[in-house]
Amino acid sequence: MKHYWDEEIEKFDKIYDGDKNLVEKFMDLFRRDSILERAKLVYNFAGKLNKGATIVDIGCGTGRQAIALAKMGFTVYGFDISERGIEMANQQVEDSGLNITFEKCDIVKKKYPPCDMIIGLGLMDYLNDEEVLQILKQVKELNCKFILSFPFKSIKSYVRFIYRHLSGTKIYLSTPEEMEKKFISVGLDNINKVSENLGATIVIHNF
Ligand SMILES: C[S@@+](CC[C@H](N)C(=O)[O-])C[C@H]1O[C@@H](n2cnc3c(N)ncnc32)[C@H](O)[C@@H]1O
Repeated sequence: MKHYWDEEIEKFDKIYDGDKNLVEKFMDLFRRDSILERAKLVYNFAGKLNKGATIVDIGCGTGRQAIALAKMGFTVYGFDISERGIEMANQQVEDSGLNITFEKCDIVKKKYPPCDMIIGLGLMDYLNDEEVLQILKQVKELNCKFILSFPFKSIKSYVRFIYRHLSGTKIYLSTPEEMEKKFISVGLDNINKVSENLGATIVIHNF
């Protein structure tokens, strides 16, 4: 059975570039800037890692950030449930010589390889509480740095909520406090929250 993101990932990827219809142009007003900003934030933090570090991108989509990080010299794994997303990611790195591996999988069930940093951008709001906790438990076990984004309840996020609902999927929103409780419940009680003005709480750890 096709996953929601098999159809949607190409549309989502147009946020970065590509031709957009009127609805997509309208939706850009609510998300494009923050999506570009949070990617920049990841590259800045990645710049603090040692040369040759390993990064895992969970919910990597078409590989936009994973590929940029591999170009910075890191070993990168990109995991995503969307077959089409992984196909598009692989097409971009064919014969590139980059140290990057993409795999189609459910990141709730997947066991992540040992790594120095995990990133998960624009992913957590598509997962329910139990699924988020499964991921956080693995992140805690790996004891690595991480950057995860959690869109929070706001007028902008409710516009996205309606957009996603009409296009066929659910999104789960929490307040920064509710989100923080999830980290604490798995023993991650020293997280840092940055850039709440990006429409999401960006949680970083160990930097
Ligand atoms: C909004 S997109 C973000 C993509 C990318 N991180 C970015 O910022 O460009 C959300 C991604 O999460 C992926 N995703 C959602 N649930 C997933 C799951 N259970 N396992 C793996 N990937 C998942 C979707 O397939 C989609 O590619």
